[in-house]
Amino acid sequence: MAGALPQGSDAVPQPGAGLFSPVDGPPTPESGLTGETITLRVFKGQPGGEMGYATHEVPEVTGMVVLDAVHWVQRNQDSDLACRWNCKAGKCGSCSAEVNGRPVLMCKTRIDTLPRGPVTVQPMKSFPLIKDLVTDVSRNYETNKLIPPFTAAPDDGTPWRIQQMDIDRLYEYRRCIECFLCQDVCHVNRTHDLSARFFGPRFFVRVASLEMHPKDILDRRDLLHDQGGLGYCNITKCCTEVCPEDIHITDNAIIPLKERVADAHWDPVQWVARKLRGSSAKTGERAADK
Ligand code: SF4
Ligand code: SF4
Ligand code: FES
Repeated sequence: MAGALPQGSDAVPQPGAGLFSPVDGPPTPESGLTGETITLRVFKGQPGGEMGYATHEVPEVTGMVVLDAVHWVQRNQDSDLACRWNCKAGKCGSCSAEVNGRPVLMCKTRIDTLPRGPVTVQPMKSFPLIKDLVTDVSRNYETNKLIPPFTAAPDDGTPWRIQQMDIDRLYEYRRCIECFLCQDVCHVNRTHDLSARFFGPRFFVRVASLEMHPKDILDRRDLLHDQGGLGYCNITKCCTEVCPEDIHITDNAIIPLKERVADAHWDPVQWVARKLRGSSAKTGERAADK
């Protein structure tokens, strides 16, 4: 977590060595250095201690991303700077942070796409701070445990036959890398601190992947309405805007779920039908699929 330095005395990089190092001479095509520097303001601190921003002048490299600049700082100026990352390829969802106030993956945010001037990097605001850029996102895993997993009918034979359009819909939800940027940006968590009563966009995506699976037989609409707090979402679409996997969270997950919950709770015909049928099974076309 803290630092990206390789272990072992032989492997510890020395200041001045490596690609992202200060150079005395002019930039060359081989080094990739542009000759410019970036002013990086990085949040430092942990609960109970001093907190603030440390400023670093980082040599710019062509194609550099914010995570590169943070690694340069760790290697050359502050090996104690804590930052969570893993793949550096936009796939592990670990390097979530806020750059110039916007929730992003640091490894997918190119410096040359940001306005010239100081670049401010800070931890996700909606989660408890552990240290520097690292936050505690464990409450998401607790929320996840509240959602009943995929459940097929016990007597459902094989092979399953599923329409391609249903598979395409599920693929979108399954692209989620659990970066929790959507959870971070959502005002229900961020401003109103209602995470104890609100699953949040990432988990609405997960519920959608289950509710819209043609072979799942559970009905999670009461869960969404009650414990999930789906009604707190007022469809601002901020979650969709920050999703690095381009999942249309609001249009393709939240709104269809809201429609289903409204059917179950406010349509009197459906309400009576559910009471007669029992509320644990899916209804309509989905039940006919079983
Ligand atoms: S659309 Fe709903 S879940 Fe997404 S950020 Fe807005 S309020 Fe939150
Ligand atoms: S839905 Fe998008 S923003 Fe939310 S956790 Fe998944 S990948 Fe990240
Ligand atoms: S390091 Fe894996 S998503 Fe950024």
